[in-house]
Amino acid sequence: MDAQQLKQMVALEAVKQVPAGIVLGVGTGSTADCFIDALAPRAHDLVGAVASSDRTATRLAAVGIRVFDLNEVDSLPVYVDGADEIDHAFRMIKGGGGALTREKIVAAASARFVCIADESKRVERLGRFPLPVEVIPMARAYVSRELARLGGQPRLREGFRTDNGNLVIDVVGLSIDDPIALEAHIEGLAGVVTAGLFARRGADCLILGTAAGPVVYEASKTRDR
Ligand code: A5P
Repeated sequence: MDAQQLKQMVALEAVKQVPAGIVLGVGTGSTADCFIDALAPRAHDLVGAVASSDRTATRLAAVGIRVFDLNEVDSLPVYVDGADEIDHAFRMIKGGGGALTREKIVAAASARFVCIADESKRVERLGRFPLPVEVIPMARAYVSRELARLGGQPRLREGFRTDNGNLVIDVVGLSIDDPIALEAHIEGLAGVVTAGLFARRGADCLILGTAAGPVVYEASKTRDR
């Protein structure tokens, strides 16, 4: 079974977690794209969706799902999104696709975060995947120096702007011993919009794609925070 088939598998499983009659939060990336495809036959029984990127908004509209601005919506019962890495406590690195800020906002506004991932994303310890950090352009050099002081090697994502018009710095080599503390520290640097660590608000549920089929884990049984 290849990676694409695993993504389609978890996408189909995640559709079962979407109640009828709600506005749904939808993430960004290749796994989220599979989820949107799997959700298409259910378009008629959703009120609509809030998208975490322009790309996702376009894809949702293309399958007939009404896209709402988050400010128009009172509650989001469920948010479904992928991850670049997820650990045993459902803390994640996200933002490989550059949508980390809107993803973090939609996740924060949602009652339940369902992470969908193939098993290559499951890690013992976060940090092999470069940590994306969205920054205001004028803060690029300052924030890069501060990230280097933390032990990382910051690299500007060349030729890339986020949906918010900002830059992304990818950081390799960080030692992520305490993801919640590091998330707070990086997001406390002037000019940082969002760190791609999703630790303070991790996932509530993980649907993991394995060769033996999808496995659903609930955070209450595994989370140590
Ligand atoms: C988008 O900014 C990211 O957070 C994605 O959710 C994450 O990179 C997972 O993407 P894939 O499903 O494409 O691996």
